[in-house]
Amino acid sequence: MTTTPIPPSTTAQSVVSLMDSIADVGRDTARGGYSRPVYSTPELDLRSWFVEAAERRGLEVETDRNGILWAWWDVPGHDRTDAVVTGSHLDSVPGGGAYDGPLGVASSLAAVDVLQQRGFAPSRPIAIAVFPEEEGSRFGVACLGSRLFTGAITPAKALNLRDAEGSTFADVLRANGQDPAAVGVDRAGLERIGLFLELHVEQGRGLVDLDAPVGVASSILGHGRWRLSVSGQGNHAGTTLMADRRDPMVAAARAVVAVRDIALLHESARATVGRLTPVPGGTNVIASRVDFWLDVRHPDDAVTAAVVEQIHAAARAVAAEEGCTVDLVEESLSATVHFDTAVATGLSAATGGSPLLPTGAGHDAGVLSAHVPTGMLFVRNPTGVSHSPEELCEDADARTGAVALADTLAVHAG
Ligand code: GLV
Ligand code: MN
Ligand code: MN
Repeated sequence: MTTTPIPPSTTAQSVVSLMDSIADVGRDTARGGYSRPVYSTPELDLRSWFVEAAERRGLEVETDRNGILWAWWDVPGHDRTDAVVTGSHLDSVPGGGAYDGPLGVASSLAAVDVLQQRGFAPSRPIAIAVFPEEEGSRFGVACLGSRLFTGAITPAKALNLRDAEGSTFADVLRANGQDPAAVGVDRAGLERIGLFLELHVEQGRGLVDLDAPVGVASSILGHGRWRLSVSGQGNHAGTTLMADRRDPMVAAARAVVAVRDIALLHESARATVGRLTPVPGGTNVIASRVDFWLDVRHPDDAVTAAVVEQIHAAARAVAAEEGCTVDLVEESLSATVHFDTAVATGLSAATGGSPLLPTGAGHDAGVLSAHVPTGMLFVRNPTGVSHSPEELCEDADARTGAVALADTLAVHAG
């Protein structure tokens, strides 16, 4: 491969300068933090940044039919099979932190710098993958790119998803030069992957408590998303007597309290309503409908199903008391993932005995793990906060993470 030499001082350090170089992209002055929804200007700018950074390192970049970017460090005489693939995502939740996703991408580029600086010659290809719509913050389904790639969602379901403006995923793909008819399971693409490794900022306090800069994922909590629509009677805020109302906002508010109360009945359950939309949404208007979205997580998938059923029943009951009705639609569901033990213990050994820990956050690595050997590295987050501007990663830990990723790539691609 042809490379522009990278000075020694920019090897592991490059993860910090790479993160610095995108610090202004997609800042959200209203919410704080970053809003980088898939195929928005900031996310497209980050994709261009990635392509430029990868090409500067001599990697060949391609965009596949599901919109996944792949940057290849090819091996002469070796086709693109049995590759060691690393990477993450560049999209964010609304008002998210700087590190969720981009740290994994920047660390992958920095790991290539470390290996190139060491004069490492891989014996199998290395690739960096960037997955679109990991957060599902625009089209509602998390890990949409990796789900399409692996066949975990049908093209028909994905293409008909709509964003808040009413554009379908198909419309947005077309507007971005992607062919909607081409999306879907990519068996040949999957066969190119021998091993997938995702580095990610930790999204809780696990590594702080373990006093370790880097850890290895043991499992991902099963999780899903449901949309509840509560319908009532839209009306005038001044002329409608309190006794005459069928107000879906009141029913939704009571249902949200039930969500918290029901989750508390099940050890280890997490249930969240982070998004609620009254329709039409006016100060002096009793809503005709309220949509809200439910996120439920539990290590036992049967308990997740039971929690959702209990929430649905409670929502139906409070809706009936308010003269309203409620519909529930499942938008996505991911079973609990237990990562390949051999990969996890190997990652721990390759990174100097990093501790294993579970996570409650979803990842493309979880989707891929059903198809290819997969592992994850976490980098300490001193605040323990994520999906928020307070998410943090110290520079020294980011460098340690990039070197740990380089070490694991070297073990597997050496
Ligand atoms: C993604 O970060 C999720 O866990 O929802
Ligand atoms: Mn993420
Ligand atoms: Mn996230």
